[in-house]
Amino acid sequence: MNILVTGGAGYIGSHTCIALLQAGHSVIIADNLSNSKSETVMKVMDIAEKEVTFYEIDVTNAEAVDIIFKNYKIDGVIHFAGLKAVGESVEKPLEYYHNNIVSTVVLTKACHKYGVNRFVFSSSATVYGENNVPFFETMDLLPTTNPYGETKAMSERILTDITRSNPIFSLSILRYFNPVGAHESGLIGEAPNGIPNNLMPYVTQVAKGKLEKLRVFGNDYPTIDGTGIRDYIHVMDLAEGHVAALENLTEGVHVYNLGTGKGTSVLELVKAFEIANDIKVSYEIVDRRAGDIASYYADTSKAKNELGWTAKRDIVAMCRDAWRFEKNYKDFVESK
Ligand code: NAD
Ligand code: UD1
Repeated sequence: MNILVTGGAGYIGSHTCIALLQAGHSVIIADNLSNSKSETVMKVMDIAEKEVTFYEIDVTNAEAVDIIFKNYKIDGVIHFAGLKAVGESVEKPLEYYHNNIVSTVVLTKACHKYGVNRFVFSSSATVYGENNVPFFETMDLLPTTNPYGETKAMSERILTDITRSNPIFSLSILRYFNPVGAHESGLIGEAPNGIPNNLMPYVTQVAKGKLEKLRVFGNDYPTIDGTGIRDYIHVMDLAEGHVAALENLTEGVHVYNLGTGKGTSVLELVKAFEIANDIKVSYEIVDRRAGDIASYYADTSKAKNELGWTAKRDIVAMCRDAWRFEKNYKDFVESK
């Protein structure tokens, strides 16, 4: 299939492009490089030893999107492009609503115009809010606490309505848990701008000496060691989950959790990182971070039963691959 991958130069998109190419699909990337670099596209081609087509465009721009659909017979769209920093979304809500909602509307209009009926959407476990764990796809969505989360819940709703209005539209909504790690080549990975908000990139930068010590946000949660529990998933497992979702798409709306189903605490992750890489990670316990919940992880049985997909890589592989990328790609990371 010819797959249009929006946000394909970004963290999850670039890994998914590799998985798509390796599964025999052709890839057209549309990315405005607002949070990525064109070098990543070159690296994707190097790793997969295949060509991809790259359009540097903003997918909120309907004319620019139209040109791609006119030039190629697109068989399906995977829509990763979006802004994703929770804190920034509170400061700049309009940018988030505009970028994340308009892009979805523009792309689905183009799908309608050109008769493209396969659509895979990047959603997030954040839409479950403070439901009881594990999170099941059938749960009612609870309010999220920030505009970023709202854009995911709203996009899910818009896409669901579009699918209900068009009986041959096939939609897969993928709710990611906590993607971490990097491609095992060490050539591509997660390279956040500035000081990382998320745990794994913070840990890798402490290990490298770029940051002094990890601040563990609270050790008084009702968990095994008092620190927060999350369902970390290797980014290549997540990438392969997209291929499974795309290849198993049928008409209607399908929602899948992409996680491992296993919870890992902050201190367990730090320990796993130290053992996997034989390196010390200094940390201190500080107050809880506002808005954090104690524990969440996925029920993954639906993806297993319907897509035949389960995550294969364990926390050690996630830590090892995250570190390989951080260690090897100093210039790439630090020039961002
Ligand atoms: P990322 O920032 O690395 O990738 C997003 C890409 O989209 C970037 O390359 C950026 O340049 C591009 N982009 C943004 N707006 C665009 C626009 N209007 N037009 C064209 N390109 C645009 O982020 P990621 O971690 O790879 O996340 C991909 C998707 O998955 C996002 O929608 C994100 O909200 C969602 N998601 C991510 C996580 C996570 O923890 N990383 C968790 C749940 C959901
Ligand atoms: C983040 C996002 C959420 C997104 C999810 C999946 C925020 C506020 N939320 O949440 O929207 O859906 O990722 O990618 O960004 N921790 C520390 N010290 C740190 C960083 C984190 O102790 O420096 C702890 C946190 O308290 C939490 C765990 O590590 O217990 C994971 O944190 P993080 O990586 O930020 O992910 P989420 O909180 O799940």
